[in-house]
Amino acid sequence: MKISVNVQLLNALVYYRIKKDWVRIMRQGLFITFEGVDGCGKTTQIKLFDEYLRNLGCETLLTREPGAKGLGEKLREILLNYDGNVSSKCESFLFLADRAQHVDCIIKPALEKGIFVLCDRHTDSTIAYQGYGRGVDIEELKNLNNLATGELKPDLTIVFDVDIETSAKRVGKEKDRMESAGIEFFERVRKGFLEIAKQEPERVKVIDSTQSIESIHEKVLELVNGLK
Ligand code: TYD
Repeated sequence: MKISVNVQLLNALVYYRIKKDWVRIMRQGLFITFEGVDGCGKTTQIKLFDEYLRNLGCETLLTREPGAKGLGEKLREILLNYDGNVSSKCESFLFLADRAQHVDCIIKPALEKGIFVLCDRHTDSTIAYQGYGRGVDIEELKNLNNLATGELKPDLTIVFDVDIETSAKRVGKEKDRMESAGIEFFERVRKGFLEIAKQEPERVKVIDSTQSIESIHEKVLELVNGLK
């Protein structure tokens, strides 16, 4: 029974890829991003999905922004722990710099080898946090995202949606620089993610992330299956 579900999932992934761009599938892997406010549970879910794909025999790369291997780790340290004033524009450029390095040196090479790349946060976090959250011009950020990624787009983005009261409880009392931004900021960020999903319904899917870990994982699988 389990095997047939797994085969169905693989078929769905492959079919979706073929439907989207059959030439690229011959050479490239699948790129899925996990997004949402801090404490939405996406990191737990990305790990579960990665394990699931590996059990199917897929080669995967589980990575994150900010803070992929190498230079990304240094940029993450500044972005999350620098305790002086950081302007919103400077913050945007640091996230974008991290992304450019990540895409060029890690994501694209993996996709070219046909590896499934699962990324914990990517372009939509910049639009939601720096755009909707901090008030940096959203159209400018979209252009800069394109510059940073060389126009690479995720095949699928899942937004894990949760109310800010619940997410704040999950984050707890120990907060990094970004997490210390306050309730209103996170309300705007949440709204930002939902707005992005409305604008790009084919790429961006929303899951209600207030349910149990198991049922959210099931929803992730259903969603990927449903791509047919
Ligand atoms: P992290 O500890 O990785 O948080 P999470 O586990 O919730 O992903 O910290 C990443 C922080 O950086 C998070 O608060 C969101 C923020 N961020 C932006 O503001 N803009 C961005 O472009 C990215 C990628 C992250």
